Amino acid sequence: MKTIVKLSVALAATALVAVSFGALAQTMKKNEPMKKTAAAQPVKAPPPAVIEAYIKSTFGKAPPEWQARIVPDETLKVCNQYHNNVPPKDADKIQKAELAKVVYPADGKMIGDWKEGKKIANNGRGGQFSDGPEVVAGGNCYACHQLEKSEVSFGTMGPSLTNYGKDRKFDAAEAKNAFTKIFDSQAVLACSNMPRFGANKVLSEKQIQDLVALLFDPESPVNK
Ligand code: HEC
Repeated sequence: MKTIVKLSVALAATALVAVSFGALAQTMKKNEPMKKTAAAQPVKAPPPAVIEAYIKSTFGKAPPEWQARIVPDETLKVCNQYHNNVPPKDADKIQKAELAKVVYPADGKMIGDWKEGKKIANNGRGGQFSDGPEVVAGGNCYACHQLEKSEVSFGTMGPSLTNYGKDRKFDAAEAKNAFTKIFDSQAVLACSNMPRFGANKVLSEKQIQDLVALLFDPESPVNK
């Protein structure tokens, strides 16, 4: 009896070894071509539902009135669907819809006070968890743009805005375009990464006029 048991254990062990070698050989076969082509494989984006669930989880502790902030509007839904590469026909539609949201100053004056604009461009407060409702939001323009040449700390996601008005000959139509861009950047570029400051009520009309002044007043340090 004892010998038979020993034998069958030995047989079983051999079988196991054979199986695992077989599996190993198979794994190696599978892995070999992958190793060679791994770098060339495009990264596949997770499905939108996975991304949405993740974003929602990061907002788990936010007060209920904040939850609406992570619900994309019609424009963002389309931009998300195409990973910002919207077909031209959708881009046109978005830009028209966003342009309709822009409210221009009643007296047609686009340019305010550049000194105030300078403060707004430098101010990154507002709309954060730690900001109470009394906090007046800034534009945080330096997070993405160079403006004054003397400022050494700025982001580069957006183009440099140095000499912005000077380069455009302080043209009134260009100042209006800048007002449009700041009020609703997606009226100008369908899936822009620049926030829609006026349309989303982050900045007031007066604040946007002051920022246009920072870009277009000949006395502004942006043009010096
Ligand atoms: C999160 C990044 C981001 C922030 C913050 C931001 N912008 Fe932009 N901005 C961009 C990008 C990117 C562009 C380039 C075009 C585009 O994608 O819309 C741009 C373009 C512009 C343009 C048009 C430039 C051109 O080529 O004529 C102006 C004017 C402008 N931004 C002004 C501002 C002002 C003023 C502020 C602050 C109130 C600001 N931006 C804040 C990202 C940003």
